Amino acid sequence: MSDLSATDVTIAELDAFEVEFSRVIAPLSDEQAIRGAQAQFLGKKGKVAEAMKVLGKLPPADRPKVGAVANRIKATIESEVARRLGELAQAAAEADLARVVDVTLPARPVPAGRLHILSQVRLEMIEIFAELGFVVADGPQIETDWHNFEALALPKDHPARDMQDTFYVSEDIVLRTHTSPVQVRTMLTQAPPIRIVAPGFVYRRDDDLTHSPMFTQIEGLAVDEGLSFADLKGVLLHFVKRFFKRDLGIRLRPSYFPFVEPGAEVDMQCVFCAGPGSACRVCKSTGWVEIGGAGMVDPDVFQHVKIDTERYTGFAFGMGIERMAMLRHDINDIKFYYEGDVRFLEQF
Ligand code: PHE
Repeated sequence: MSDLSATDVTIAELDAFEVEFSRVIAPLSDEQAIRGAQAQFLGKKGKVAEAMKVLGKLPPADRPKVGAVANRIKATIESEVARRLGELAQAAAEADLARVVDVTLPARPVPAGRLHILSQVRLEMIEIFAELGFVVADGPQIETDWHNFEALALPKDHPARDMQDTFYVSEDIVLRTHTSPVQVRTMLTQAPPIRIVAPGFVYRRDDDLTHSPMFTQIEGLAVDEGLSFADLKGVLLHFVKRFFKRDLGIRLRPSYFPFVEPGAEVDMQCVFCAGPGSACRVCKSTGWVEIGGAGMVDPDVFQHVKIDTERYTGFAFGMGIERMAMLRHDINDIKFYYEGDVRFLEQF
């Protein structure tokens, strides 16, 4: 036995690691433990590295032989680790597949957000007018007195200014009281033919069941050669039928707005009752509900925005979006729109 050289001893030691490693790894069943065992043998301070420290003391001719054995042991251990980890992954995947899933269980509800009812109605209104060739226009909510009033034939001392109780920011700046200043802005920047709708917030010092100091309107404006009151009526009638998906009539009641001539208040047939005589809180038993104002653009307005009154005529209308949503969904207090109460909002 004494003729065992140092080289033989080292090789025998390395060979023994192979067996030892199989024994160590056999009971291990999680990745971390297996990696730990691997490090214990192959790490920088592992068993193989320790055994190899003697390499420098061996006869140079023997060193490649010992190195080859060490490499073989390393490869064996690595492939064993890979095989065991592969088995673990496979077992996990199989366990996953074998898990019984009851597909008949009701799904957990995922609360979904949605557009505010006023946004839904606004988009729907825009879509109906878009079908008729109207495009969306926009204007500021903080508006000059000139755009909100003067250019719409409402000079400072005009009694009709009282129709709209105004929030003043300064002497010449107001919170717009209607979307009609977008008519002015559009006509100042676009040449006819014009067909726009302008939805947006407007402000008035008003506050009760059906009025809020801030609400939304949608304005319509068409300017072209040969437009008549019949075109206005056609557009409004089409809109009401499309929006309520019912064959409802409209009524244009002569009325006064300084920026239209002739001007009218727009009524539609009550959606809630069978007409005059039936007890109805919405139309107060008249069979008609007011939905907005309308009329032919007053030549005075055309002059302010320098549109040729000989060549062009135009019509305009304005409607309250809250109103339309109230009529569509039987909402009886305007405050519901702005309180952000989910119990209200999630109904739509
Ligand atoms: N701007 C008017 C209002 O808010 C409505 C209107 C618009 C009337 C267009 C005529 C033409 O009361």
